[in-house]
Parts: sequence; structure tokens; C-alpha cells
Amino acid sequence: MKIAVIGGRGFVGSRLVDRLTAMGHEVGAHDRSSGVDLLTGNGLRGALEDADVVVNTIDAPSFDAEAGPFFHSTTENLLRAAADAGVGHIVLLSIVGIDRVTDVDYYTAKILQEDLLANGPIPYSIVRATQFMEFIERIMDWTSEGDTVRLPTTRIQPIAVAEVVDALAGVATGPPLNGTLNVAGPDVYTLDEIGRLTLRAHHDDRHVVVDESAGIFAAVPEDAITAPADARIGGTHYTDWLT
Ligand SMILES: NC(=O)c1ccc[n+]([C@@H]2O[C@H](COP(=O)([O-])OP(=O)(O)OC[C@H]3O[C@@H](n4cnc5c(N)ncnc54)[C@H](OP(=O)(O)O)[C@@H]3O)[C@@H](O)[C@H]2O)c1
Repeated sequence: MKIAVIGGRGFVGSRLVDRLTAMGHEVGAHDRSSGVDLLTGNGLRGALEDADVVVNTIDAPSFDAEAGPFFHSTTENLLRAAADAGVGHIVLLSIVGIDRVTDVDYYTAKILQEDLLANGPIPYSIVRATQFMEFIERIMDWTSEGDTVRLPTTRIQPIAVAEVVDALAGVATGPPLNGTLNVAGPDVYTLDEIGRLTLRAHHDDRHVVVDESAGIFAAVPEDAITAPADARIGGTHYTDWLT
């Protein structure tokens, strides 16, 4: 199978390219560093030539209101180019529960990205993942000041990125779902709790203070971004992953 991964040198995309290549597929890794810009459309025609499947793992340059126009233009450009190239399946990486959160600009932008794909002319699959375990430290850094990390009690259910890659690889090489697969890790933590676990495991002297207004996850209602009942649950526990 010939598979084009847009965002193929990013954090998830590069791992997916390696996985699909190891499975024996012909895989192209594309992003601006390889001359493919989904925002302008430059290089897209060549990247999608003869591709059976396209996986979209790009990310917006910011989490604020600018993410909306970015995901709008990039998705429209991808749909147009994929239709011209005769691509039979587009797979999108998205986030669990974004439809249940109204006050986060980035989530609103991801919903727009999903809706454009679902209403477009190409058979599609959306893989929604919970927060990556590898992303927890970055979340903490956003609201760290000196030796204090401010975190809300928002509930999250982190997943190891390797399990997200498993799901994407399986979906990309199967028939289009024309729907959504939710994937999540096995355990639910409050953000302040997972922050303390992470600092302890890394012998980091910072301490966590609960602040219900800290960071973008503060706007997330109870259980909105934990696994829905139909989710595929991964086997990697955060406490094992940490060690
Ligand atoms: N972090 C989480 O916990 C989490 C959870 C669930 C889902 N997700 C989703 O996962 C997706 C990927 O995240 P990631 O961490 O892998 O992102 P990342 O490491 O920032 O990678 C993004 C990729 O997109 C490329 N890109 C950006 N703008 C582009 C453009 N205009 N044209 C072509 N390529 C472009 C980047 O390369 P260049 O800059 O060189 O173009 C890079 O290869 C995101 O959509 C995010 O919403 C994340």
C-alpha cells in the first residue's frame, strides 16, 4: 500500500512512518521541511501521487484562535488535492472529547478539522486519542514558575504514543471507518495528581499547587476528555511508563 503521512517528521508522524514502513508499506513522510505545505498547497500534488491513503498528523502553530483558520485551510487543501489524486482514504489524528469542551479555542479548531473531513468527498477515518503520556511534562511546564507547578484537578486518561501509533497504523491499513475510533490509556488521574507522580519519578524538587484556572485544561468540564464507553483502552500504565 502507498501511504502519505502529512506531518510525517513530527512527534507522532515520524513514529507512524517508521511503523508503516516496518509493516512493508511504501510510505512518504511529508511536511514543510520536505517541501510540502498544507497551508499553501505547495508540493501536495507530488506527495499524494499514486497514494492509496493519506494520514494527517499535522499540528497548528498555536493553541489559540489562529488554530481555526489553520485547520480550515489545511483540511480544504488536503481534501481538494486528495480528490484530484484519487486518494481512497484519509485518516486524521484528533483528540478524545473535544466536542464536549466549548471554551478551548484549539479544541473548537480540531472539531472544525474533523467536520470538514467528515463532510468531504473522500472516505475517512478519525482516530481520537487522549493526552499523550509524553506530553504531560510539557503541560506542566506551561504553568510552572520557579519551584511551583500550578495545575487544575481536571481528569485525564493519558495514553502512550506507541499505542496511538498502533491505532493509526491499523486504521490506515484497513477499510475507512467513515467514523471515529477513540483510544485511551488505562488509568484516569487528576492533573494535579499526575503532576505530583511525574515530579516524584523524576526527582524534581518542584511542587504542585492546585489552581482551577491554570492552563488550557482548566476549561475542561468533568470527565469530558476521558475515554468514552466505546474507547479502545491501551495496556501501558503511566506509572510503568514513567519508570
Ligand atoms: N499532544 C497530545 O497529547 C495529543 C493528543 C491527541 C491528539 N493530538 C494531535 O496529534 C497531532 C500531531 O501532534 P504532534 O505532537 O505529532 O505534532 P508535531 O510534533 O508538532 O508535528 C506536527 C507536524 O506537522 C508538520 N506541519 C506543521 N505545519 C504544516 C504545514 N503547514 N504543512 C505541512 N506540514 C506541517 C510539522 O512539520 P513542519 O513544521 O516542518 O511543517 C510536523 O511534521 C495534532 O493534530 C494534535 O492535535 C495530540
